[in-house]
Amino acid sequence: MTRIMEYVLLFGTTLMQAGSAMNDLPTIIHDLSPDGPGSIVIEDPATSRTVGRVPDSSLEGWNEALAAASAAGPAWSARSSRERSDILHECVRVLLENRDDLARTITLEMGKPVAESQAEVDYAVDYIRWYAEEAVRPAGDYRADPKGGSAIITTRAPVGLALLIAPWNFPMAMATRKIAPALAAGCTAVVKPAELTPLTTYLVVRLMIRAGVPEDAVRVVTTTDPAAMSASMMADPRVRKVSFTGSTGVGAVLLGQAAPRIMRTSMELGGNAPLIVFDDADLERAVDGAFAAKMRNGGQSCVAANRILVQDGIADAFVDGLAERFDGMVLGHGLEEGTTLGPVIDARAVRRIGELVEDALDRGAVEVTAERDLPDEGHFVAPSLLDRVDTDARISSTEIFGPVAAVSRFSDPEQALAIANDTPHGLAAYVFTESLERAFDTAERLETGMVGINRGVISNVAAPFGGVKTSGIGREGSSEGIEEYQEIRYLNLDRRR
Ligand code: SIN
Repeated sequence: MTRIMEYVLLFGTTLMQAGSAMNDLPTIIHDLSPDGPGSIVIEDPATSRTVGRVPDSSLEGWNEALAAASAAGPAWSARSSRERSDILHECVRVLLENRDDLARTITLEMGKPVAESQAEVDYAVDYIRWYAEEAVRPAGDYRADPKGGSAIITTRAPVGLALLIAPWNFPMAMATRKIAPALAAGCTAVVKPAELTPLTTYLVVRLMIRAGVPEDAVRVVTTTDPAAMSASMMADPRVRKVSFTGSTGVGAVLLGQAAPRIMRTSMELGGNAPLIVFDDADLERAVDGAFAAKMRNGGQSCVAANRILVQDGIADAFVDGLAERFDGMVLGHGLEEGTTLGPVIDARAVRRIGELVEDALDRGAVEVTAERDLPDEGHFVAPSLLDRVDTDARISSTEIFGPVAAVSRFSDPEQALAIANDTPHGLAAYVFTESLERAFDTAERLETGMVGINRGVISNVAAPFGGVKTSGIGREGSSEGIEEYQEIRYLNLDRRR
């Protein structure tokens, strides 16, 4: 039995048997590596039970993957853009056919409620659909020389082999947001998923291969020594591009490694999103928007509302409304019916969030949400809303990455804007107001790459996702996203007569 068949069989049987009740959960759903020292064990964050094993590869494995993906490059880039597009369209079909199993895999390794995982599958697949369409858009143009005498023809060439480093919080969407534009542009890739959530990526790539992507065009590597792996790959002249989503600290290291070789880089790094609610906001819209901006993905998103700044006149009603929504959340295993909030990713996250809350309370914040019992096992954090948070508290300058909201009040709109911009980060921001002029003015003055106006969810395949300041370089999604994997070349043709 080949490795792929074995995998599909395991996937098709073991996972499919898993019921939605907790005691029906399988012990191992994806067994891609034998038990032992050469394996990474993947745990369900809601139970700490093992849900899979993947290879813990070392230098030899990294080099083999890199050599294979590099060798696959010329043939893939030589395919017509229509062929690449057709294959990506077929990936959309195959992935959607496996939507439920993909969603359950996301939930089992990452923890989010399965309805959110299904939404992630749709979102992830949308990137593939988008880039299947983008693949056949004109890759170049013709320009007249203003002085006459020559023609200027621009072309787009694939940048070459790409190293794609994806995070754990959206294990499918962040992988496809990188893989799809790379393939559409004619690049091949080595993908390194997060060690905590690699199962989804292995599965996605397997299904994409089933849909027609050449076996070596996308290689997945997993390792418990990601720093050594990226250092080794970044030094390899065959790697021409790195796309990373993760912390600003790791992004800075990768940029340092990219510099000597002048590599192309896309960095989607940390955020500290302000969400500003002005007195003239529509209350219901503001509460709904803040709830979504804070609680999507259990608060574990780079664009999560990290600092909620509310003007005095609306603050009491807003805090009451938001606290009610938090209190209504149902904590539990993501596969259990009715669960609206799963665990956070690991024990370290529980500790880190707890420390931020303690510090905020010590500095005068008020806990508004009801106390509640947590499940006996797993890494759970109660949804909690802190009001009157001191903007000097650590929670205001640190990415919370969990289901805790920090509300600070303000009186003067200029003060809110100053607080909002008082951060080295600049990924996303949100503004709630019924005044078009105020919305536009505030959005223009916010130092972020993305601004939601009266909306809490800004992620969209058609939008250029990315940040300014220490939140990153480059954009993902949209037509800008494919340009990250293309070199612009220009030909100058003599037209003198
Ligand atoms: C994130 O990077 O955490 C957010 C991704 C998204 O919303 O697309």
